[in-house]
Amino acid sequence: MERFRLKTAISFGADALAALEELAGQRVMVVTDDFLAKSGLLDQVKARLPGCTVETFTGVVPDPPLEVVARGARALADFKPQAVVAFGGGSALDCAKAMVEYGKKLGAAGEISFWAVPTTAGTGSEVTSFAVLTDSQKGVKYPLVDDDLLPHRAVLDPVFLAGVPPKVTADTGMDVLTHAAEAYVAKGANVYTDALAEKAFALAWKNLPAAFHGDQEAKADMLLSSNLAGMAFNGAGLGLSHSMAHALGGRFHIPHGRLNAMLLPHVIRFNASDHHTAERYAALAKACGLTPTARGLAFAMERLRGRLEQPGRLSECGVDPKEVKAKGDEIAAAALADLCAPSNPRSVTAQDIKTILRELA
Ligand SMILES: NC(=O)c1ccc[n+]([C@@H]2O[C@H](COP(=O)([O-])OP(=O)(O)OC[C@H]3O[C@@H](n4cnc5c(N)ncnc54)[C@H](O)[C@@H]3O)[C@@H](O)[C@H]2O)c1
Ligand SMILES: [Fe+2]
Repeated sequence: MERFRLKTAISFGADALAALEELAGQRVMVVTDDFLAKSGLLDQVKARLPGCTVETFTGVVPDPPLEVVARGARALADFKPQAVVAFGGGSALDCAKAMVEYGKKLGAAGEISFWAVPTTAGTGSEVTSFAVLTDSQKGVKYPLVDDDLLPHRAVLDPVFLAGVPPKVTADTGMDVLTHAAEAYVAKGANVYTDALAEKAFALAWKNLPAAFHGDQEAKADMLLSSNLAGMAFNGAGLGLSHSMAHALGGRFHIPHGRLNAMLLPHVIRFNASDHHTAERYAALAKACGLTPTARGLAFAMERLRGRLEQPGRLSECGVDPKEVKAKGDEIAAAALADLCAPSNPRSVTAQDIKTILRELA
């Protein structure tokens, strides 16, 4: 028997933000980062919370560390909200998810309705049971996975994407393509996740270059694609690109999507030695009008990465290749222990990971 579950109700399209008005009169905690708080975008959210008692937590930073989650959970337990609105990129959404879980343990009372309002087209966190946190002391980034982390509501309003700078659009967009590609070949893939992953990949493939150049309609399509890819990987799982991106991201602080953009072509070639997986990659390439082979897909991803002015090697991100070599065993161990590793379609050894690291350094 197989199972595919949906929980989050999704509001999308122009003025989707109006959905927040359902929270009128409640105690609401908004979780965001300092940039969004100061940019004026947060005011648009607050304007949709009529008659609410609003507390704002603006302490989120990229790749949220445990200390920030702990501070936020304490603030949440003190405020005792009826609803939490997570507003921002994947970092704000994940931080808020973890804050609610820990906040409940610290005494935040009753059921808290969780609303996610993404401002990047990337992680799909608004529809996933994942929250990726960073243990800064150990330099480790790891995903929590629990159905309790699934938001009740997702609000996809493209208005927030207008000011996203090209570099962030490129990084987050490559994350979307990686979610879709990994979900499509993952061990947990089924007919539902395939439909979501195929649509997500084709939509992102078509729109990412224009979104990078600032086209607002393309950005709106990227937001949908990010959401579809999130549902796909939440059901199917991810793979080696994500497990290595988590292991590297905790140590070298390179944006998550930029790491996936570097890793995915290597992972496609590695996984393609499995015949069935190679056929799946070929099908994905065909759906986008690309040379219908796994190699064709890997090559197309590298070409796109170049068009988006992204690096292809860790050394281009300021990481010393000697350090990558010295930390090879540690990175391989972290990637193998990561929760995304078991769903990779081909089994992986520490040696396989070190080979990819050598190519990537
Ligand atoms: N939970 C999941 O399912 C999931 C999936 C993949 C990745 N992740 C995690 O999510 C995090 C990455 O999230 P992200 O890629 O969205 O980046 P992010 O949330 O770290 O944000 C990146 C930067 O973009 C800025 N930003 C956000 N919205 C903006 C806007 N509208 N205009 C201008 N600037 C804006 C932020 O202030 C920040 O400086 C990583 O920690 C990653 O591991 C989570
Ligand atoms: Fe990701």
